[in-house]
Amino acid sequence: MSQSPNTPTTGFATRAIHFGYDPMQEHGALTPPLHLTSTYTFETAEAGGEIFAGERSGYIYSRVSNPTNDLLERRIASLEGAEAALANASGMGAITSLMWTFLQPGDEIITDLTLYGCTFALFQHGLARFGIKITHIDMTDPANLAAAIGPKTRFVYFETPANPNMRLVDIAATCDIAHAHGAQVIVDNTYATPVLTRPIELGADFVVHSATKYLGGHGDLLAGLVVGRLEEITQIRTVGTKDMTGAVLSPFNAMLILRGLKTLHLRMQRHCENAQALAEMLEHHAAVDKVWYPGLASFAQRDLAQCQMAAPGGMIAFEVKGGLEAGKRVMNDLTLIHRAVSLGDAETLIQHPASMTHATYTPEERAAHGISEGLIRISTGLEDLEDLQADLAQALDAVR
Ligand SMILES: Cc1ncc(COP(=O)(O)O)c(C=O)c1O
Repeated sequence: MSQSPNTPTTGFATRAIHFGYDPMQEHGALTPPLHLTSTYTFETAEAGGEIFAGERSGYIYSRVSNPTNDLLERRIASLEGAEAALANASGMGAITSLMWTFLQPGDEIITDLTLYGCTFALFQHGLARFGIKITHIDMTDPANLAAAIGPKTRFVYFETPANPNMRLVDIAATCDIAHAHGAQVIVDNTYATPVLTRPIELGADFVVHSATKYLGGHGDLLAGLVVGRLEEITQIRTVGTKDMTGAVLSPFNAMLILRGLKTLHLRMQRHCENAQALAEMLEHHAAVDKVWYPGLASFAQRDLAQCQMAAPGGMIAFEVKGGLEAGKRVMNDLTLIHRAVSLGDAETLIQHPASMTHATYTPEERAAHGISEGLIRISTGLEDLEDLQADLAQALDAVR
């Protein structure tokens, strides 16, 4: 018997392509329509008032909801195994909308040592100014959370794998400890995507994404998502995003992400294959000092990677012998691989976190937070592996 694509048990790829959309409701259009509208017409003044009062369903204004964004939100919720999702203008827009909705002065966020640079800046330089206590601990060992958590801890927040040094956090073990103390868990799933890891299924309360990355997948938009329970997502929609950040996703970008999602599972497979081969090549090259990639036998948290991730992902961190100067020479000698921040695109990108994505940390903070000055980050793209290997080899051979 054939299954409706809206059945949660249909496969991931099927839902990424079909979930939540019936062409026959839209004149048979294969591709969902793009609703480029800021506002919506009410049939009568009374009907408008009833929609505002929540007594009747309907759209009001696209800072609250939009049919194209709705489809993206329902599809992502399905892929993450969650009740609901909210689309935002950027990953930072998603994280700030969530935080502004729930935090009160005096609350504490416990977070890992390593965070994406702007998330670190939001916590350390932004939220801290409004009376939020930020506590960084080494979350690679859940016992550290058990020792640090207290009655004021509102959120436990982490990335896994972490940007840029690939540290992993055990989601299920961390959720058990946080929930036993009344705290909620937020996982930034940007690196793994729901193809590789589904934190909600492991107990997380919220997932956040920079959909700018793999979910969009083509380097042509900025977007963010928050995923979780319907009641809380509605609160973020109607408080955090509507009133406090205004970080609403353009429906045009929602449409581009819906297009990107159709190939997400295939792209992730190729990102992982290319990254595994490049990580192995880097590890065996005489010019390379150290490589961090969850698919390598040498990766310290290999066991956790194998049970928490369906595959090791597309991101690699490494250091060249001779430190930062040698690393910059390698970056500058590349001809195919682009020197650029962001990640998850079709193009392979290389960047230097200490002077780029993680320049929001002071050098002392980077040292304390496990981000070494010589670390280089690769976002492996979808090109032919042989071409990527040849480009990296010629640049590394030159510094050997
Ligand atoms: C792990 C992670 N989270 C969040 C963000 C922020 O996302 P955006 O750039 O879409 O605001 C980024 C951006 O690089 C990221 O790498």
